[in-house]
Amino acid sequence: MKAKAIVYTSNTGYTAEYARILSRETGLLVYSLEQARKELAAGSCILYLGWLMAGKVQGYDKAAKLYAVAAVCGVGMGATGSQLEDVRRTNGIGQDIPVFTLQGGFDGKRLKGIYKMMMSVMAKTVGKKMAQKPNRTPEEDDMLDLLQNGGSRVKEDNLNALLQWYYSDKAGERSPE
Ligand SMILES: Cc1cc2nc3c(=O)[nH]c(=O)nc-3n(C[C@H](O)[C@H](O)[C@H](O)COP(=O)(O)O)c2cc1C
Repeated sequence: MKAKAIVYTSNTGYTAEYARILSRETGLLVYSLEQARKELAAGSCILYLGWLMAGKVQGYDKAAKLYAVAAVCGVGMGATGSQLEDVRRTNGIGQDIPVFTLQGGFDGKRLKGIYKMMMSVMAKTVGKKMAQKPNRTPEEDDMLDLLQNGGSRVKEDNLNALLQWYYSDKAGERSPE
């Protein structure tokens, strides 16, 4: 059974943006996890997108209890397609479920409370370490720029790998009925 809907958890809006683009591209209905809990039948087959915090795909544990998750997508600051094995391991996602990562964005003004504090520590520590790193790759340069200056890296092309999987036969085979 193919996924029937897209369910997401977003804090500052970048994951929501990806979920809406994905919905436009696939024609699937899109729900925030909160909405889905009220409106989408338990057991439905979904694509799940969540923002990354310390490697955890936010909302994934809850979504996995409620729905048949056909694929997981973590939205973070790293390059699209990076950290795949880390995300799988940190979130305990089985090998039968495909994992994707997408580069979202960072806007200090959209962050509140504890997240704002955590991010300002991270921007200082990770940012400093990265700034000092010799021979940075273009991806590392980009992440450093994001940390220091903020901005959005959301673009349709970042969804190519996910869409390719979605339209392949495997997408139909993998998800449980
Ligand atoms: C407290 C905190 C921790 C974060 N940890 C990670 C992380 O471990 N890996 C990562 O790639 N991005 C991390 N980020 C960056 C967010 O995942 C990124 O800004 C994402 O685009 C936010 O998506 P949203 O706008 O849907 O909330 C972190 C951000 C915050 C505020």
